[in-house]
Amino acid sequence: MKTAPTIPLEIIPATQQDLDRIVRIEQESFPAPWTRKMFEVELDGNPFGSLMTARAILDGTGTALVGYMCFWVVFEELRLMNLAVDAPARRQGVAAELVRRALAAGRERGALRAILEVRASNGPARRLYEQAGFRQIALRANYYTHPVEDAVIMGMEPL
Ligand SMILES: CC(C)(COP(=O)(O)OP(=O)(O)OC[C@H]1O[C@@H](n2cnc3c(N)ncnc32)[C@H](O)[C@@H]1OP(=O)(O)O)[C@@H](O)C(=O)NCCC(=O)NCCS
Repeated sequence: MKTAPTIPLEIIPATQQDLDRIVRIEQESFPAPWTRKMFEVELDGNPFGSLMTARAILDGTGTALVGYMCFWVVFEELRLMNLAVDAPARRQGVAAELVRRALAAGRERGALRAILEVRASNGPARRLYEQAGFRQIALRANYYTHPVEDAVIMGMEPL
């Protein structure tokens, strides 16, 4: 995995004010995107969930939200639930940094293993997770809809 992002970044929790931009990136990134309501539940209604944002630090002009990650820590298990980076900001280590932070948060909260699922055709994401230390542990046939596709289950243990 990249040792550090190639743009200056800060990783901080999302707020309600971020939802318009998160939902836009989500809609541009996935064939079956999460709805705004689903992100609202992660922000306010899920005691296990965290929604983190990656913000590019701009020269003297503030920050711009370029990516986000949702993860759950359910007792001993860290579950990576959602991750996307705005298309113009990709391949600069933003996702790798978000994954690194989620793994660190899981360890801090006592998780012993991490798990995620990814569309079988999503080569960029599978490579990202492999670089982060995940390995394929199962394949679920026809798990996804819109379009129908297998899910690759990836895990990391010990975390
Ligand atoms: C997958 C995604 C999150 C990667 O975000 P990113 O910020 O561009 O990723 P990074 O720059 O941190 O890349 C880290 C590593 O992942 C792999 N990777 C990322 N994008 C890749 C691509 N387009 N092709 C091949 N490998 C890729 C590489 O191994 C890369 O390391 P390298 O640049 O040193 O080769 C981004 O492409 C995205 O938002 N895609 C649409 C949504 C999605 O698929 N989310 C994941 C759902 S499980």
